[in-house]
Amino acid sequence: MRTPFIAGNWKMYKTTAQALEFAGRFAAMDRPAGVNVALAAPFTQLAALKKKLEGSGIKLAAQNMHYEEEGAFTGEISAAMLREIGVDYCIIGHSERRQYFGETDDTVNQKVKKALGAGILPICCVGESLEIREAGEAAEYVSSQVRAALKDVSAGEAAQITIAYEPIWAIGTGRTATPGQAGEMCGLIRETLKELYGTDVSEKTVIQYGGSVKPSNASELMHTEHIDGALVGGASLVPEDFMDIVRF
Ligand code: PGA
Repeated sequence: MRTPFIAGNWKMYKTTAQALEFAGRFAAMDRPAGVNVALAAPFTQLAALKKKLEGSGIKLAAQNMHYEEEGAFTGEISAAMLREIGVDYCIIGHSERRQYFGETDDTVNQKVKKALGAGILPICCVGESLEIREAGEAAEYVSSQVRAALKDVSAGEAAQITIAYEPIWAIGTGRTATPGQAGEMCGLIRETLKELYGTDVSEKTVIQYGGSVKPSNASELMHTEHIDGALVGGASLVPEDFMDIVRF
């Protein structure tokens, strides 16, 4: 059985004071057992959030990291630096990183491997643009993104990775993929994992859907076959909204 996994992606929102205020309120609310929950916060908030979330069971995620161990990479953060302060997960290859910061399938693959090596669990994002969907090429495109992200990743390591299917046309647009569309693509990702690693890994891997998930649509999406979780942007910024999604 796969444990449902709901992760909030705060993107470039909240000061540390606001993050701590959120965490205090959120951690005090009743949360269903058996749902894995993480908050992906900006780098500057991570250490303070780690302390604030202690004992709550809520996991901590970064939104990006560099693929090199260390070096002259001004402005970058390594996997070991994240691990040192107790970060559990790192979002890798979010479409905004691919679109605005030049991330490629190759850098995503390098980051995935580096994260795993440092004990950080990757939440690896894939997803097609509207143009690709309308050309009927979404399945092929997303499957190739998954293959590229997992190049030279062993079966044992692959089983630790969360894949987030996030169609670019549904991110921050209010336009959610239908449960049918999202389930179909998450199923395709599972099929790709099966081809690469066999049924054991493909059945274990947690696959999230992301793109305008909100309290009103979370339940239906979460009850769709192959969708094991959600990567939530906008609706993760308010504790009550995010908790409604966690309670799907
Ligand atoms: P959204 O963002 O929920 O605001 O659409 C999702 C994401 O980018 O991870």
